[in-house]
Formats: sequence, structure tokens, C-alpha cells
Amino acid sequence: MSRVQIAAEAPKEIYFSTPNLYVRTLTIDDATDRWAAWFEQEDVRQGLNTTAGPRTKAAVADYIRKFDQASNLLLGIFDRANNLLVGIFTVQIDWLIGRYLTNTVVGEADYRHRGVMLEVTPPYRDYFFETLGLKIMTATALATNKPIIGYLEKTGWTLNQTLKNHARSSANGALIDLHLFSLTREAWHAWKVANPETLEAMRNGLLR
Ligand SMILES: CC(C)(COP(=O)(O)OP(=O)(O)OC[C@H]1O[C@@H](n2cnc3c(N)ncnc32)[C@H](O)[C@@H]1OP(=O)(O)O)[C@@H](O)C(=O)NCCC(=O)NCCS
Repeated sequence: MSRVQIAAEAPKEIYFSTPNLYVRTLTIDDATDRWAAWFEQEDVRQGLNTTAGPRTKAAVADYIRKFDQASNLLLGIFDRANNLLVGIFTVQIDWLIGRYLTNTVVGEADYRHRGVMLEVTPPYRDYFFETLGLKIMTATALATNKPIIGYLEKTGWTLNQTLKNHARSSANGALIDLHLFSLTREAWHAWKVANPETLEAMRNGLLR
């Protein structure tokens, strides 16, 4: 069996921490009614452009089961102070070409725009680029999703392409453009060198 095959099939138990938060692989024991309630928020539905989402604890457990945690990962972001699950990452890895597609939501409204994503960004990217040896990270963002676009632009991503009228708004049916972003391992290294102060602030813990 090749190294790529072994990496693709071996489930991963990921854990890393930052001054205020930690990130770890989720299991079905993490399913809660509170997580299910995230999808009641208009912000979350609009951000993900979905009318639905797991709305009960049992539906969340079913959702978690879909991830093999080898090539399709589901990670939770937790507050170290109270162990509350505040957000999730999904990651789809293509081991053959070293690419991973990442998606994220900070589901707890009280934690949004307080620096959660900025704080977990350096160890998150270092894990996939350095520990797993992947080469390029990709993400998509609806053109209407200003928060995520702001985050991607602030932290070094390149906008490669815009697919015009690619999606229909789940809120009002309007057609929306979809932006395709990427960040290579080299570009992440270069961004760290070019932004030492921002990087240090992120590493010191930006949760406010
Ligand atoms: C988008 C999201 C993942 C960002 O995570 P976060 O922890 O809230 O972001 P941070 O506080 O670390 O902010 C990082 C940067 O993102 C941008 N940003 C975050 N929230 C923003 C907001 N409400 N308005 C504008 N820009 C915002 C800013 O550029 C910010 O940098 P700044 O603090 O210097 O202004 C999170 O707010 C979220 O999940 N929102 C709702 C659902 C959603 O839209 N998900 C994305 C689906 S693809």
C-alpha cells in the first residue's frame, strides 16, 4: 500500500490548542440540541446558503456519522474556558494531488467576529500543510458572504475565479456569484513572513 493510500484510509484524531480555544476531531457524542439550534439563525443559513441543516440532536449525530475522519474530516472549535463547541470545520482531502477543501462556520452567535477564526488559523494551516504535507487549500464563498470574504482576504488567500450567477439564494431566490479561493503552502509561508505582527497577535490569542 502506498503512503498516499495509507494516509487516505487512516482515521485521524486531530487536536491542537491556542491560548483561548482548542480544535479536535468530533465524534457522535458531540451531537447536542444546542448545535442543532445553530441552523435556526438566519446568519448561519445565509452564510451557508441553506434552508436546512441538522435541526435535531439526532440529525446532528447522523451528520457526524457521514465523516470518515480520514479524507472527510469534521473538527470542532471549543472555548477552553467552558468546553463549549463554538464552531466547526469540514475538510475534504484529495490525497493524490495534495489538495484540501475547507469550510467553516462559527455557529455560536456570541462568538462571531471576536477573533475565533483568526486565533485558530495558524495551527490549523500548519497542521494540514506541515504535519499532513498537503500542498494547496481551497474554499468557496458566496459573493454575498462579506464576513468570510473579509477573513479570506485578510489571511492571504487568492481569488482565482468567480462563477457568475452560480447559486440561487435560499433566502429570496436571487442568483448569486460564487468565488473560488485558494492558498498554496508556499503562499502561506510567504504570508507569515510578510505579516509578522498580525501572525504574532493571532498566535497570542485574539479572542476578544
Ligand atoms: C465567517 C466566519 C467563519 C468568520 O469567523 P469569525 O471567528 O467570526 O471571524 P474573526 O472574528 O476571526 O474575524 C476575521 C476576519 O473576518 C472578517 N469578518 C468576520 N466577521 C465579520 C463581519 N461580521 N463583518 C465583516 N467582516 C467580518 C473580518 O475581515 C475579520 O477581521 P477583523 O476582525 O480584522 O475585521 C463566522 O463569522 C461565521 O461563521 N459566520 C456565519 C456563517 C458564515 O457566514 N459562514 C461561512 C460559510 S462559507
